[in-house]
Amino acid sequence: MVTAFHVSLVGRKDLSGEIYRQIRRAVLDRRLRPGDPLPPGRELARALAVSRATVTVAYERLAAEGFVTSRQGSGTFVSELVTQIGPEKTGRRSTGALQPRPIWEAVPPQPTFETVRFDFRTGICDASLFPHRSWRRSVAWALRSGETTAGVYEHAAGHRDLRVAIARQTGISRGIKASADDIIITNGTQQALDVLARVLLAPGDGIAVEDPGYGPPRHLFKALGIRVVGVPVDRQGLVVDALPRGIRAVYVTPSHQYPLSVTMTLPRRQALLAWAERNNAAIIEDDYDSEFRFGGRPLEPLQMLDARGRVVYVGSFSKTMLPTLRLGFLVTPPSLRAALHKAKFVSDWHSSTLAQAALARFIDEGAFARHVRRVSAIYRERHQIIADAISRNFVEHLELIPSTTGLHLTALARRMSADQIAEVARRAAGRGVAVQVLSRFAVNAIPRAGVMLGYGAIPTAHIEEGVRLLRACFDSEP
Ligand SMILES: Cc1ncc(COP(=O)(O)O)c(C=O)c1O
Repeated sequence: MVTAFHVSLVGRKDLSGEIYRQIRRAVLDRRLRPGDPLPPGRELARALAVSRATVTVAYERLAAEGFVTSRQGSGTFVSELVTQIGPEKTGRRSTGALQPRPIWEAVPPQPTFETVRFDFRTGICDASLFPHRSWRRSVAWALRSGETTAGVYEHAAGHRDLRVAIARQTGISRGIKASADDIIITNGTQQALDVLARVLLAPGDGIAVEDPGYGPPRHLFKALGIRVVGVPVDRQGLVVDALPRGIRAVYVTPSHQYPLSVTMTLPRRQALLAWAERNNAAIIEDDYDSEFRFGGRPLEPLQMLDARGRVVYVGSFSKTMLPTLRLGFLVTPPSLRAALHKAKFVSDWHSSTLAQAALARFIDEGAFARHVRRVSAIYRERHQIIADAISRNFVEHLELIPSTTGLHLTALARRMSADQIAEVARRAAGRGVAVQVLSRFAVNAIPRAGVMLGYGAIPTAHIEEGVRLLRACFDSEP
């Protein structure tokens, strides 16, 4: 049993925020460890001479971000899932003369990816399936190429051969309308969003994001001083009617919404494009994992439906190749091209020519298409095993959201609360099964109860046992 954590309030401004930040920092630097209890809300409120609501707001915010979970009748505890976030490398805030701007306090540290036995986490691809030998050949070829060995910088848009290869590849596989001149190579999706945000949005401008939604872009936008507004997602994708006024851009994952797994329907896509036109806004379309498709006709990307140059399409090689490559791209409308080139240039001149030239060679030789075809068949099988298991063995607890794309499935809890699901995930973690809970991805809305099951990392042969262990956690007592 640990002693109750002590919060000290100095000023009287933003008291909830101060309580939230102190506890959050303590969790991240491990003064509070997974499973540790927080002081009961009423007690803390009394000790700090603040209202009960002040403490409740702080606790709810910590719960929504997955730092703590409440167990009915027994209190609030540091979430076991925080182990996935890992300790903040810098440790406690140091007392040096130089301090970061306060905005960085609100940005969570990078997640760590420790090895677990039954790994259903999302956002990871199976590196054991990667064709390392043919990739090494492409890298060796690139090492000898003139561009790689030249002593001058390349164009900020990226290596020409790779841009040509991507324009051709995305034209065939996704119907993207683009020439090599429209492609800008970036260090993954994340940098594409960074340069886009800098070019499109000033501090204080608003961007709409899906709620629930993928975290890193949201934190990036906030760090740039951009106002982030969560907009709900239903079975048809982003609820366009809920978009507020005065928003300059919308960031969406229409092919395979992260984390809910729904595909944005055609009427919603059309409504979103019409909304952007009426509101003079940009649409950023993140198509991060739709190369893996297991049935059904793919819907046209927003970029393809867009007749007015309002959509910027963003793609990544983190799932199809390896996330460590840090290669992605965006397809720019002509009106943004020059500014985006400048933004990429002032950010880092350009992405590594060696990696770009090797990838261009890999795509041109057909190795990329072969690899995606091969792993798609494997991911398809994993997808099916998990979908069957959820539909068969979890009927009373979970409802699977139908999905035929990507590297994860999502299931909503039928009766359990988000806290109860977090408790299940905590128990599962104790048995070597890692799953992500939906509630972690809430933006403003009340966190939804459910789980995500990724199949990028787990070998096919381990799925049945992993799912069986997870199922048992729904029944066992805490
Ligand atoms: C929604 C979404 N977009 C993009 C990415 C890939 O990001 P990056 O290309 O920066 O690795 C991921 C990875 O998990 C993701 O979940």
